[in-house]
Amino acid sequence: MSFRSVFIAVTIAFALILGAFLINRARPKVEVEQPTSDFVLASGKCAECHARMQYSVVHEYEMSVHAKKGVNCLDCHQPSTGQKKVDHHGFVISAHLTAGNCRSCHEGIYQEFLHSRHAAPSWAAIYGEKGLSPEQVSFSEQFQPGGTRRPPSPLALPEGHPAVAAGCEQCHSIGKPNEDGTIGTCTECHSRHTSSVALARLPSTCAQCHMGPDHSQIEIYNESKHGVMFAAQRQLLKLDANPKTLTTRDMFVPTCATCHMSGINGLKVTHDPSDRLSWYLAAEVSQKRPNYLRAQANMKQVCQQCHTETLVNRVYAHAEEVVASTNAKVSAAKEIVTALHKDGIVTGPPFSNPIDFTYFDMWHYDGRTSKHGAFMGGADFVQWHGNYGLLEKTVELQHEADALRREHAARR
Ligand code: HEC
Ligand code: HEC
Ligand code: HEC
Ligand code: HEC
Ligand code: HEC
Ligand code: HEC
Ligand code: HEC
Ligand code: HEC
Repeated sequence: MSFRSVFIAVTIAFALILGAFLINRARPKVEVEQPTSDFVLASGKCAECHARMQYSVVHEYEMSVHAKKGVNCLDCHQPSTGQKKVDHHGFVISAHLTAGNCRSCHEGIYQEFLHSRHAAPSWAAIYGEKGLSPEQVSFSEQFQPGGTRRPPSPLALPEGHPAVAAGCEQCHSIGKPNEDGTIGTCTECHSRHTSSVALARLPSTCAQCHMGPDHSQIEIYNESKHGVMFAAQRQLLKLDANPKTLTTRDMFVPTCATCHMSGINGLKVTHDPSDRLSWYLAAEVSQKRPNYLRAQANMKQVCQQCHTETLVNRVYAHAEEVVASTNAKVSAAKEIVTALHKDGIVTGPPFSNPIDFTYFDMWHYDGRTSKHGAFMGGADFVQWHGNYGLLEKTVELQHEADALRREHAARR
C-alpha cells in the first residue's frame, strides 16, 4: 500500500471518529450515558423534537439529578392515576402534571407536604373548603387545626375574581386541589425540569411568595446578618450538596430552607415547614401552636448547629416579648373596633368602612412584621415597619372611633 492511500485512510478514519464524536456530543447526555433502547425511545425521542422547539426545557432537564439517575421525560410525563391521557407523537402523555407525577417516586415527601400549610390550608386561606373534598379537609385538619375548615377570605369577594385569580391564587396555588385528587405542586420550589435542591435552597425561591408588607420574610432576611453573609459568601456555599449528607461545612450560612426545611448535620429534611414553628405569628393575635415545645426545640437545634445555646435563647426571649407586646397592642385595637360593631356604629360587610382598613393594616402589616422581624433578625421591621406603625395606627384608630361615635350620636 502506498503512503498516499494509508494517509487518506487514516484521515478518513479520523474524520469519521471526530464526526461521530461531534454528533454524539450534541446528543442529550442521558442518551449518551445510558443507551438502553427503552431509554432512548422515551428520552431520546422527546428530547429530539423538543430540543429544537424548547431548548431550555431539555437543557434544564439534562443538568438535573434526574437525568444522571436515568429518570426520563416519560417517567414524569406519563399519566398517573386519575389523569387525562393524551396521544402525543407516538406516546401517551398526561394532559396536566401535578404533585401526583412526583409522588410515584417520592411518596414520603408528598405525605409530609400534605401535612403542611403549603398544602390544603394555603388554598383554604382564599377559598375556604370550596374545591377540597371532605376527606382532604379532615385529613389536613388533623395536622393543621383550623387551617382548612373555615370560610373563604372576606377580601376575595369585594376584590373580585380577576384580582383573586391573578393575585392571591398565584401564590396560594402551591396547595391547589388538582383534578386527579392530589394537592398542590412540587415545582414552585424545585422547578419543572431542574428538580434542583440548589434552587430550593435559594432565598429568592421562597421570596416568590414570601415578600411584601404582609409577610416581609425576604426583606427581613436580606437585612439580617444571615442575609448579608449569604450575599457575601454565596459562591463559597455548596448549594447543591446532597440533602442526605448536608452539613454546616456545605452551608455555613443559613437560608430560609436551612432553618425551615433542611436536614443539616444529621437532622432530617422536612417538607412540613410548620415542624419548627412554635407560634402562629401570621395571626391577628398570636397563640402558641399545639406542638409549641417540640417545634421550638426543633428550630433551636438547627440554630445550635452554628450558635451557642446562650445566643439562641436570648433571641427567643426577646422575640417572645415582642409577640406579647404586639398581642397587647392589637388586642386593644380590636376591642375598639369590636365595640363599634356591637354598638351598631359600624355596620355593613367587612372592608366597607375606612376604619376596617386602619385596623386590618395595623395587625396584617405592622403587627406581623414586628413579630417576624423579631425572630428572623430584622430590627428595622420590629421598629419602623412594625412598632412605629402600631403606635401610629393606634392613635389613628382611636380618633376615627371617636369621630364615628360623635357622628352616630349627632344622627340620633
Ligand atoms: C415528533 C416530535 C415530538 C415528539 C417525539 C414529542 N413531542 Fe412533545 N410536542 C411536540 C410538538 C410539536 C408540541 C406542540 C403541541 C403539539 O403539537 O402537540 C409538543 C408539545 C408537548 C408538550 C406541551 C403540551 C401542551 O399541551 O402544552 C409536552 C408536555 C410535551 N410535548 C412533552 C413530550 C414528551 C414527554 C415527549 C416524549 C414522551 C414528547 N413530547 C415527544 C413534538 C414532539
Ligand atoms: C421531574 C419530572 C419531569 C421530567 C423528568 C421532565 N418533565 Fe417536562 N414537565 C414537567 C412538569 C411538572 C411540567 C409542567 C406541566 C404542566 O403544568 O402540566 C413539564 C412541562 C413540560 C413542557 C411544557 C413546557 C412549557 O413551558 O410549555 C414540555 C415541552 C416538556 N415538559 C418536555 C419535557 C421533555 C422533552 C423532557 C425530557 C427531556 C421532560 N419534559 C422531562 C416535569 C418533568
Ligand atoms: C421515576 C421516578 C421519579 C419521578 C417520577 C420523580 N423523581 Fe425526583 N428523583 C428520583 C430519583 C431516583 C432521584 C435521585 C435520588 C437519590 O439519589 O437519592 C430523585 C431526586 C430528586 C430531587 C433531589 C435532587 C438533588 O439535587 O438531590 C428532587 C428535588 C426531586 N427528585 C424532585 C422531583 C419532582 C419535583 C418530581 C415531579 C415533578 C420528581 N422528582 C419526579 C426519581 C423520580
Ligand atoms: C405574593 C404572594 C401572595 C399573594 C399574592 C397572597 N398571599 Fe396570602 N400568603 C402568602 C404567604 C407567603 C403567606 C404566609 C405568611 C406567613 O405565614 O407569615 C400568606 C398568608 C395568608 C393568610 C394567613 C394564613 C392562613 O392560612 O390563614 C391568609 C388568610 C391569606 N394569605 C390570604 C390571602 C388572600 C385572600 C389573598 C388575596 C386577596 C392573598 N393571600 C394573596 C402569599 C401570598
Ligand atoms: C416550599 C418549597 C418546597 C416544596 C413545595 C417542595 N420542596 Fe422538595 N425540597 C425543598 C428544599 C428546600 C429541599 C432541600 C432541603 C435541604 O436543604 O436539604 C428539598 C428537597 C427535596 C428532595 C431531596 C430530599 C432528600 O432527602 O434527598 C426531594 C426528592 C424533594 N425535595 C422532592 C419534592 C417533592 C416530590 C415535592 C412535592 C410533593 C416537593 N419536594 C416540594 C423545598 C420544597
Ligand atoms: C408559591 C408560593 C410559595 C413559595 C415558593 C413558598 N411558600 Fe411558604 N407559604 C406560602 C403560602 C401561601 C403560605 C401560607 C399557608 C397558609 O398558612 O395558609 C406559606 C407558609 C409558609 C410557612 C408558614 C407555615 C405555618 O405553619 O405557618 C413557612 C415557614 C414557609 N411557608 C416557608 C417557606 C420556605 C422556606 C420556602 C422556600 C424554600 C417557601 N415557603 C416557599 C407560599 C409559598
Ligand atoms: C436563622 C433561621 C431563619 C431563617 C434564615 C429564616 N427564618 Fe423564618 N423563622 C425563623 C424563626 C425562628 C421563626 C419563628 C419560629 C416560631 O414561631 O417559633 C420564623 C418564622 C417564619 C415564618 C412565620 C410563620 C408564621 O407563624 O407566621 C415564615 C413564613 C418564615 N419564617 C419564612 C421564612 C422565609 C421565607 C425565609 C427566607 C426569606 C426565612 N423564614 C428565613 C427562622 C428563620
Ligand atoms: C448554618 C449556620 C447558621 C444557622 C443554622 C443559624 N445561624 Fe445565625 N449566624 C450565622 C452566621 C455565619 C452569622 C454571622 C456570625 C458573625 O458575625 O461572625 C450569624 C449571625 C447571627 C446573629 C447575629 C449575631 C451578632 O451579634 O451579630 C444572630 C442573632 C443569629 N445569627 C441568630 C440565629 C438564630 C436565632 C438561629 C436559628 C433560628 C440561627 N442564627 C441559625 C450562621 C447560622
